[in-house]
Order: sequence, then structure tokens, then C-alpha cells
Amino acid sequence: MREIGVIHDAGVLSVDGKIMWVGPMNEWSRSLPTDTDEFDASGSVVLPGFVDSHTHMMFAGSREDEFALRAQGATYQQIAEQGGGIISTIQHVRAASKKELKRSTARFLNEMMRHGTTTVEIKSGYGLDMDSEVKMLEAINELMQEEVITVVPTFIGAHATPPEYRQNKQEYIRVVIEKMIPYVGAKGLARFCDVFCEKGYFELDESERILEKAKALGMTAKVHADELSSLGGAELAARVGAVSADHLEHVTDAGVEALRKAGVVATLLPGVSFFLNHGYAPARKLIDAGVPVAIASDFNPGSCMSFSMPMMMTIACTQMKMTPEEAITATTLNAAAALNMSSTIGSIEVGKNADMVIADIPDYRFLAYHFGYNHVSKVVKNGVVLEM
Ligand code: NIG
Ligand code: FE
Repeated sequence: MREIGVIHDAGVLSVDGKIMWVGPMNEWSRSLPTDTDEFDASGSVVLPGFVDSHTHMMFAGSREDEFALRAQGATYQQIAEQGGGIISTIQHVRAASKKELKRSTARFLNEMMRHGTTTVEIKSGYGLDMDSEVKMLEAINELMQEEVITVVPTFIGAHATPPEYRQNKQEYIRVVIEKMIPYVGAKGLARFCDVFCEKGYFELDESERILEKAKALGMTAKVHADELSSLGGAELAARVGAVSADHLEHVTDAGVEALRKAGVVATLLPGVSFFLNHGYAPARKLIDAGVPVAIASDFNPGSCMSFSMPMMMTIACTQMKMTPEEAITATTLNAAAALNMSSTIGSIEVGKNADMVIADIPDYRFLAYHFGYNHVSKVVKNGVVLEM
């Protein structure tokens, strides 16, 4: 993760949106095409576009009231138990039209791209009934067709038990397994299926049944694992062959070993620990054990109201003791791996999509170092320098 392959005085050639050549300009060969549009990025740092592999960025309403309560000592769980949290966002999302959800999400997508994100995963999970989950997934799929940024849809019907099933969670799980997943699978509305595996949300065996059903219907598993307690979500992710285990603030040594053995990507969400002030995932332990570590924003109105990947890198470096090089790998190539997309995005390599960030900084380490400011001057998406 520390070997990021810096090239000074570099050039990149892209043809039809794919990288055809990259290297030091003094090796630029005359045999390469010359009738190309040129963009001079001298004096800047060019990085692979950021891949935000875990977000809940399609939502309605906002939760600054909870933010203020936490400032006075309330915890995320206490607020959730009193009817706030995920459930409060659900009410707003159920009331919103597909068009409204698309409009607010498109606005965020545009802003995220200005901050350097070129691929983003978006989860459902604020509908929690058949119609509202489908509404969210259809909206996400339409954005995937319409927007320049690459959008990857994930189904997370098991994000919380909706109020109407509070006395009967097993019946809700039955609806997820027997109605929602078959529909989502048949319509091809989601590439991944995720679950919030946590005490008070979905237990290990419940999560496993949900993920096994989704796998049988063509989705790849992801797990919200060991966020608030050491439940064994990491081991579950390894057992079901999940592509990633996300959060991991409370992962145990056995969980780390299970992830390593199974080759599961550990997706850390430093913005959540920062925003909820609940402790950080053991990034050093995971990296030193040889687990591929990714970083994502988890952008959502409850636990991380930020989509800035450079900000996540700063928190990773200062609070989790990741090096700037590790933070770059975690937000690009390893994040691409967390979406099963590392053969096409995540690095500036021949054959991959020409998705790049141009930052007005003297050195790549400057990005995480000078925080709270957007250094991105241009974004290249599929070989096109975007006007922004
Ligand atoms: O990833 N942990 C579960 N879900 C989100 C929080 C969603 C919310 O609070 O609205 C998360 O942190
Ligand atoms: Fe999440």
C-alpha cells in the first residue's frame, strides 16, 4: 500500500476513454498518436480518481438535531433508541418522490466529483418497504445512466427494522428474503447486497441468511461489520465470501485473521469515527496483517455528513496512523477492489479507464496535509477534462 509509483514530469495518453500510455515525458514515443487534444497539468499532482465504495448518499431530510444532541453527550445508539437515527430518515425518504431523490442526489454527485470522486457506490436502505426500496434502487440506476460519475448500486433492505415490523422483526426478514431480494435480483437493480450486522439491527445468523439468498440471485455480499460491538461481522464476511467488510471499529484479532485468509477488503470509514466520536478501526493492525484496506466516506445524514475523500484521508493519517501513501491506495485502488472493479479503475495504468484528479498542490502528501480545502482543480472522466 506504500508503493504508489510516483512519476515526475509524467504524461498520460488516453484514447476512447482508456489509458493507452503513461510514463515520464522523456520516454514519450513518436510512434504514439499526435493528433490528440492536450491538457497541460504542469505544476500539479495527478492522481487516480477517488473511488468512494460505501455511501448512503441518497436520502431526504437532514439530522442536524442529532448532531446537536451528540454535542451535548448523547450517543448514536441512544438517539436511535429514541426514534431518531436511520428511522427518522426513512420517514422522509418514503414521503419523497423518485424525482426528488434523484434531484438531491445528483446535486451531491456533482459536488463529489468537484472534490475528486469519479466512482461512487450508493446504497438503498432508507425505504425499508418493497415500494420505497425499489424507488431508491430505480433512482440510483437512472442516475447511473444519466450522470457522468460512475454509480454502483447496492441493496441494503436489512439496514434497520422499519417501525411497522418493530414487534415482528422475523416477518420483516422474511419480506427481505422472499420478496425484496428476488425482485431486486430479477430486475438486476443492484450489484451488491449489504446488511447492517449489529446488535439491535441484524444478528449474525439473520445477516447470513439474507446474504446467502442475495448471492444465490446474483448479488455479491458486503457487510456492515463490527461497527458498534464485536459481534463477529468480519468472520461472517469471510464465511459468506463478501467482497468487503466495512466499518470494523470493533473487529477482533480473529476477525482480522479471517479477513486476511479470505482476501476480503477491509473498508474503513474514518469519517464516522470522527463524526460520532466513537473510536477508530485498527487500520495499522489490518494493514500490518496483510489485509487490503480501503477508505470510504460512508456519506449519510446520520453518521458522516461529508463526502470529501481528501478529508477522509486526513482523518486516516492523523487518527488511524496511516501514511499518506497508504491513504491514497485506500481511496483509489483498494476501494476499486472493494467494488470488484480494480481491473478497470483505481490506478493510472494502461488499459484502465482514464479517470483522474488534477490537484493544485506541490506534492501528493499535501492533499491530506492541507485539510478542509478543496485542492482539486480539474477532474478527468473517461479521458474528458470536465468543465467545473
Ligand atoms: O454506515 N451503520 C449503519 N448505517 C449507516 C448510518 C446510517 C444513518 O445513521 O442514517 C452507517 O454508519
Ligand atoms: Fe454504512
